[in-house]
Amino acid sequence: MSSEYFTDESLSEIYKKISSVVPEIEWKVHAPLIKKINKLKKDKNAVILAHNYQTPEIYHGVADISADSLALAIEAAKTNADIIVLCGVHFMAETAKLMNPEKKVLIPDMTAGCSLASSITGDDVRMLKEKYPGVPVVSYVNTSAEVKAETDVCCTSANAVKVVESLGVDKVIFLPDHYLANYVQKNTKVKIISWQGTCIVHEKFSAKEVEDIRKENPEIKIIAHPECPPDVISASDFAGSTSGMAKYVKEKQPKKVLLVTECTMSDNVQVENPNVQFIRPCNLCPYMKKITLNKIYDCLKNESNEIKISHNIATMARKSVQRMAEIGR
Ligand code: 13P
Ligand code: SF4
Repeated sequence: MSSEYFTDESLSEIYKKISSVVPEIEWKVHAPLIKKINKLKKDKNAVILAHNYQTPEIYHGVADISADSLALAIEAAKTNADIIVLCGVHFMAETAKLMNPEKKVLIPDMTAGCSLASSITGDDVRMLKEKYPGVPVVSYVNTSAEVKAETDVCCTSANAVKVVESLGVDKVIFLPDHYLANYVQKNTKVKIISWQGTCIVHEKFSAKEVEDIRKENPEIKIIAHPECPPDVISASDFAGSTSGMAKYVKEKQPKKVLLVTECTMSDNVQVENPNVQFIRPCNLCPYMKKITLNKIYDCLKNESNEIKISHNIATMARKSVQRMAEIGR
């Protein structure tokens, strides 16, 4: 393998950044792909949007924007690129397509799903609307376009409370994350009717695990994603979306931190905060990890895995996503 991957100026800049979390032997495999993807991006006027859970070689190596799911939706609407490659899970790529229907939106692996998105169907939402007539539906953005089409307004963990309160009603149906619904209920007077979906990554954390880590590290700051069970959130110092968590670390610069979320995110935030020590109980999202540099290269080169949404569903679903974007963070 050529040492070019350590001396090439653009590549060595990237490696300098991520060398604390990517071993040299792995860099030799990633570097040629990063170079090829970044060239293809220019040649095809493409943009790569990556979620905060993507691996460091994607997040720091090829992504133009790395962010939480709310910012990815907003950025997807703004881009002038001809092609959007969404490095994240399927609902994120669908949301990008809804926000920017004229663009070609590609996802490197069509099977990158989400346990929350697959926990509910359009039929389920129609059944709930019959059961609770006139009660508006707020859906987490972690849902299929079919569910979004049955939804009044979408939200993410960054703006869930704000979205619920924006409706000015005393009751909402909130789908599909039971724990996020619980978190919202604790922060609003609006009555929340929830669904039983959970995230297979965040539901695994326990309050005991978090408390044990705090006992061993009394000075630690513990920050949790709102998809975690309620006792985990109560045992934490702060709860927020993935970007909210990254912002907390950047601003507060705690000596030691535990991000109670998908563990790759700690690598990405570590790179940007070299003086913070990260304690990492490791739960990986198997869906997010389906995205690799090889698959990004193939899908961009062949313009494969294009997101298509039927016209009727897209027209209805777009309204709920746009409404979310207008409400903002
Ligand atoms: P964020 O909206 O906080 O980025 O989270 C998305 C997600 O899938 C978390 O598991
Ligand atoms: Fe879905 Fe959980 Fe993976 Fe996020 S971490 S994409 S909510 S399964």
